Amino acid sequence: MNKQSTVFLDACRRKKSPFTPVWLMRQAGRYMKEYRDIRAKCGFLELCKKPELAAEIALLPVERLGVDAAILFSDILLILEPMGVGLEYSKNDGPVIQRPVRTGADVDRLAEVDVDKSLPFVFEAVRKTRDALNGRVPLIGFAGAPFTLASYLIEGGGSRNYIHTKRLLFSDAGAWHALMERLVQALVQYLNAQIKAGAEAVQVFDSWIGCMAPDDYEKFVLPHMRGLFSGLTPGVPAIHFGTGTAGLLAHMRKAGGDVIGLDWRIDLAEGWKRVGYDVGVQGNLDPTALFGPTSEIRARVSEILKRAKGRPGHIFNLGHGVLPETPVENVIAMVEAVHELSSR
Ligand code: CP3
Repeated sequence: MNKQSTVFLDACRRKKSPFTPVWLMRQAGRYMKEYRDIRAKCGFLELCKKPELAAEIALLPVERLGVDAAILFSDILLILEPMGVGLEYSKNDGPVIQRPVRTGADVDRLAEVDVDKSLPFVFEAVRKTRDALNGRVPLIGFAGAPFTLASYLIEGGGSRNYIHTKRLLFSDAGAWHALMERLVQALVQYLNAQIKAGAEAVQVFDSWIGCMAPDDYEKFVLPHMRGLFSGLTPGVPAIHFGTGTAGLLAHMRKAGGDVIGLDWRIDLAEGWKRVGYDVGVQGNLDPTALFGPTSEIRARVSEILKRAKGRPGHIFNLGHGVLPETPVENVIAMVEAVHELSSR
């Protein structure tokens, strides 16, 4: 059951709340039978372009798990499609960019994105999801961070070592910065349009930023992230998420965000100290902890809550998305444990 509709937004603003709010990245996805049933009849990209269905999917975890926030059903890569690079979701290899960006000339060829013209279905999905939620819990909008999106554009899909991405940024800094500027320009419009349509908080996913050395982050990423966060509509909480970021947290904090994501490779107390107590934190349960027995899940939830010390500004979450193989009962047990053990 959803307990109180303001708790998530209160935590984003580091206000006191009667319990710690919890939601999960990828909470609407393949680990849920209800999602798989809808997905059996429709391709993923197609689903994202059907606002009615997107809203229905975004509501599933609110109803089934009792989480304290909903997240828009969409994907970080949709904004790349109108740039003309050929986005596809293949069955086994995940997302594919058919015409990857490898040179300065490729960057120049990218089409400029007019979000209202190219991505109207996203904003319609925001409106429909808000309507369907009817005030039960707030709605989070989201976008990929420029580095993570650039890595998909340049590699042509997922990657292990980001060799093409790093070759470009080390050998043609001009082209790299031009690409990041283009992405930021589109992302500011995109997130602000989601906010205008009704998103009450936004999350910026820099999922693969953990591959960067701190000095390179400072030079090649930080100024662009600052530009992104400073362009967002004031007053709407922004969550800044990444993984593998233990060595980057201080820089990420400088880049912006009211709440900083912590994955599970860093102790929550240590992570919060590094980013500073004047921002909130989100995390940090290991997603694979949900494959263990309920007693172990509860023990780990309890440990994380203990490390957060009931300080206002902790949003409970996994350190990364729910894995598709996760048993749904364990996800439900985790959400219940957070509510019960954090109740004050
Ligand atoms: O419930 C939610 O969190 C809302 C929807 C959401 C999706 N993707 C749906 C999705 C969100 C917030 C995302 C973000 C996203 N997409 C990220 C950042 C978060 C992270 O996990 O790091 C990234 C890197 C992507 C890119 C992406 N999209 C990949 C790599 C893949 C394929 C592999 C995988 O993990 O599924 C997708 C496809 C995707 N996005 C699915 C869903 C529900 C599965 C599509 C299907 O049904 O086949």
